[in-house]
Amino acid sequence: MRDVGSDKDEDEMTDKHMTTVSQHYFVDESDKPSFSIAIIENMKEEYGLFVWPCSVILAEYVWQQRYRFSGANVVELGAGTSLPGLVAAKVGSNVTLTDDSNRIEVLKNMRRVCEMNKLNCRVMGLTWGFLDASIFDLNPNIILGADVFYDASAFDDLFATITYLLQSSPGSVFITTYHNRSGHHLIEFLMVKWGLKCVKLVDGFSFLPHYKARELNGNIQLAEIVLNHESPEETSTSTVR
Ligand SMILES: C[S@@+](CC[C@H](N)C(=O)[O-])C[C@H]1O[C@@H](n2cnc3c(N)ncnc32)[C@H](O)[C@@H]1O
Repeated sequence: MRDVGSDKDEDEMTDKHMTTVSQHYFVDESDKPSFSIAIIENMKEEYGLFVWPCSVILAEYVWQQRYRFSGANVVELGAGTSLPGLVAAKVGSNVTLTDDSNRIEVLKNMRRVCEMNKLNCRVMGLTWGFLDASIFDLNPNIILGADVFYDASAFDDLFATITYLLQSSPGSVFITTYHNRSGHHLIEFLMVKWGLKCVKLVDGFSFLPHYKARELNGNIQLAEIVLNHESPEETSTSTVR
């Protein structure tokens, strides 16, 4: 006969076996590791508890552009395991990590990862398309989003949140990494629809150190997106392709 609670114990055992801690290194110009970030990943979960390649690429970009991040207010959307936001905190940003308010496990894991790395970030639920009071005071200078463009049915809600945050904080920028696959033209279309423009578009592998690039694959782009203050006629000639 099985003890009461044994199912729970088994679940916990399985969870333990599915959980790993990965280390992510950031190297300065002299090729010496400056620091590493530890991430708790859980292979059982589909999305938010895994470090996706887009996140590795965006985190490396934050590290290489660290002069922009020192002292900045940074909000990461759909942060999941939160590597880019944690690197921003490490280089001196004031960071708010966010993910879907309904994904309690993901939010819990974000708090554990902050503790593990001794980084003091704010963690909050922020579901795309819900523009409630909690995001009114975020005032980000930089918004980050790694692999958040993967489900086309959520793109409009995501753009609503991005546009709101950009409008609430003049001069702010959204920096994202995404797989250049079928939704690509939809992203361009929605960007124009929401009054945004792309000011930088680069191949995500173009700045990645070799030792990181050889572990990853895919066609990943990095884009910097801002509010478009130009007239529609000017926009049609200045959209980045
Ligand atoms: C593909 S994962 C990327 C996670 C992480 N940024 C990375 O690159 O490792 C997508 C993330 O978006 C979050 N997400 C999905 N739908 C969302 C929504 N409607 N509102 C907020 N976050 C959402 C998921 O919980 C997940 O963490």
